[in-house]
Amino acid sequence: MSAKILDGKALAARLQTEMAEQVQTWIPQVGRPPGLAVLRVGEDPASAAYVRGKERACERVGMASFGQHFSAEAPPSQLLDTILRLNQDERVDGILVQLPLPPGWDPIPPLLAIEPDKDVDGLHPMNLGRLLRGEPGLQSCTPLGVMRLLQTEGIPLSGKQAVVVGRSILVGKPLSLMLLAADATVTLAHSRTPDLADVTRRADIVVMAVGKPNLLSADMVKPGAVVIDVGINRTLTPDGSSQLVGDVCYEEVKEVAAAITPVPGGVGPMTVTMLLHNTLESYRLRNR
Ligand code: GUN
Repeated sequence: MSAKILDGKALAARLQTEMAEQVQTWIPQVGRPPGLAVLRVGEDPASAAYVRGKERACERVGMASFGQHFSAEAPPSQLLDTILRLNQDERVDGILVQLPLPPGWDPIPPLLAIEPDKDVDGLHPMNLGRLLRGEPGLQSCTPLGVMRLLQTEGIPLSGKQAVVVGRSILVGKPLSLMLLAADATVTLAHSRTPDLADVTRRADIVVMAVGKPNLLSADMVKPGAVVIDVGINRTLTPDGSSQLVGDVCYEEVKEVAAAITPVPGGVGPMTVTMLLHNTLESYRLRNR
């Protein structure tokens, strides 16, 4: 039997339509739209494309965009000064520094400089600490998107075995904590985990977030498991054209799993949607 396809693109579109309506009801009360500042450094083409996507989504739901771009040769103090100014700017509810920064740029000082209540990426130690303690706070967008997708699809988490493969600060680590908060039994596996198949085969829910094309094959998945693919890898097809693939052998795993996210159209559209969600939350809290 073929798996249910978890359509993140459709859910993202629905949530964005709802948010656009909420923004329109709030603007007359607050006197301004929610505002998001996405800061980008250097010329990484993938980062430029992601940032364009974020700004377009922002406009689509009626939020204001305060993005800035810095040359990789600019002094890092320029980025820090901008963050400090945006922290004080009443029109701005969310600030995000697009990662990775160019070689030679330390991401820690800018991430620490962002006011925690405007940290819509959830990467400030204050927000990571709140997540660790199970307290309310802004949380990372990709893991939040995965949780929202699982919850909307009615996939039970309490008491289930969840295996997250990949220990990044953007996805694997925060997602493990969110699954734990939802009462799953969580295993966080990574590149040094011996016999990964033995670990993933025990999982009721497998999340792949390593950035290795086709790492999870059908024989590594328990029949009936839910498979979430966070990987976004650009590969070349035999005819030389470029193709986006996840970390999962999609065609074979979907014959074993009960439910699966496609790439593209699964987790990806949920990430930017959760960025808008966080910005709207920050705006609401600021204007209660
Ligand atoms: N680069 C890739 N994903 C992300 C993300 O979620 N946030 C930031 N700041 N940079 C990224």
